[in-house]
Amino acid sequence: MRVLVTGGAGFIGSEIADALVSRGHEVVVYDAMLPSAHGGVPPRPMRDGERLVVGDVRDRDALAGALAGVGAVCHQAAMVGLGKDFADAPAYVGCNDLGTAVLLAAMADAGVRSLVLAGSMVVYGEGRYDCPRHGVVRPGPRAAADLNAGRFEPNCPDCGAELVPGLVAEDAPVDPRNVYAATKLTQEHLASSWARATGGRAVSLRYHNVYGPGMPRDTPYAGVASFFRSALARGEAPRVYEDGGQRRDFVHVRDVAAADVAALDAVCAAGPAGFAAYNTGSGEPHTIGEMAAALASAHGGPAPVVTGEYRLGDVRHVTADSRALRDELGWKPEVGFADGMAEFATAPLREPGRVVHQSRL
Ligand SMILES: NC(=O)c1ccc[n+]([C@@H]2O[C@H](COP(=O)([O-])OP(=O)(O)OC[C@H]3O[C@@H](n4cnc5c(N)ncnc54)[C@H](O)[C@@H]3O)[C@@H](O)[C@H]2O)c1
Ligand SMILES: [Zn+2]
Repeated sequence: MRVLVTGGAGFIGSEIADALVSRGHEVVVYDAMLPSAHGGVPPRPMRDGERLVVGDVRDRDALAGALAGVGAVCHQAAMVGLGKDFADAPAYVGCNDLGTAVLLAAMADAGVRSLVLAGSMVVYGEGRYDCPRHGVVRPGPRAAADLNAGRFEPNCPDCGAELVPGLVAEDAPVDPRNVYAATKLTQEHLASSWARATGGRAVSLRYHNVYGPGMPRDTPYAGVASFFRSALARGEAPRVYEDGGQRRDFVHVRDVAAADVAALDAVCAAGPAGFAAYNTGSGEPHTIGEMAAALASAHGGPAPVVTGEYRLGDVRHVTADSRALRDELGWKPEVGFADGMAEFATAPLREPGRVVHQSRL
């Protein structure tokens, strides 16, 4: 089958394209080569079975050409991260939401009925919390006064008790807390509307914190693992915000690519039209402090420094229950935390002037 992978020159899209080619699929890599993601560096070389189309997902004519002969779309293209400030909002909404709408319209025209979308755990806001007295509760955003005083854990909104963090499931209420998160949720709503209107099948994989070789260098758009890894590469200590106790689910990019392949199989199989979202996490929660320590130790130092700084709007804990993806799509993560971090500690990042795509250990 021919698969269009939007954002296929990016960190996760490259790995998906690789996984698809090695399963004998033909891949059209469709990517605008955003300067914020690539820093003006030319695209990685294409492998046999891949064809690059440099184009924007907001360009319907270019998409119409690229969709010729395509059986399914894997939509990874997006502006990622928190950006610099609110002035980035129109660019996020343009790339992520207008872009998704244009892509879905082009797919409707071309009769392509199978879609996998790169979703995100950011749609949940804070993760799941249990109060000993009130059961599952939903703490609001943390106050600057608490964070300044080093009170990082959210408390029960009803009784102020300490909360126990848990695993968030797909039916948890959504609570997007920044522009990027809002655009990722809108992408899902658009995909769901498209499925209903066209009889298509769509799956959104709500990735948790993806890491691995080829991750972009530290920019305002990159994730925390990349910041730590970049600091170590400069010989500097990773600077860990808050008290380092923030819990996340770090999932390896090869496992994410395998989830995309499984989801593509599912949306291409015969079945009823519709939309489904799946958490995509390792199922092995770790703290940011543990991640920094694992990277620093595998890199040979320097040891992380816990700074007590914070970013207003960051959530304290969010970790995934990815059972549905395992049970319904037969996916299983293969790369454990210790092995994955040891590899990532020395694997190259995507640096300006040198595009790295290392798909195998
Ligand atoms: N990295 C993570 O931890 C993570 C977590 C959750 C969700 N995601 C999602 O996964 C997807 C891939 O992210 P990534 O980490 O590989 O980021 P990335 O920046 O490496 O890749 C995104 C790619 O999309 C391209 N792109 C952006 N806007 C485009 C447009 N308008 N038209 C065409 N191409 C465009 C960029 O040039 C880039 O190559 C995104 O949808 C992101 O929201 C990533
Ligand atoms: Zn309570």
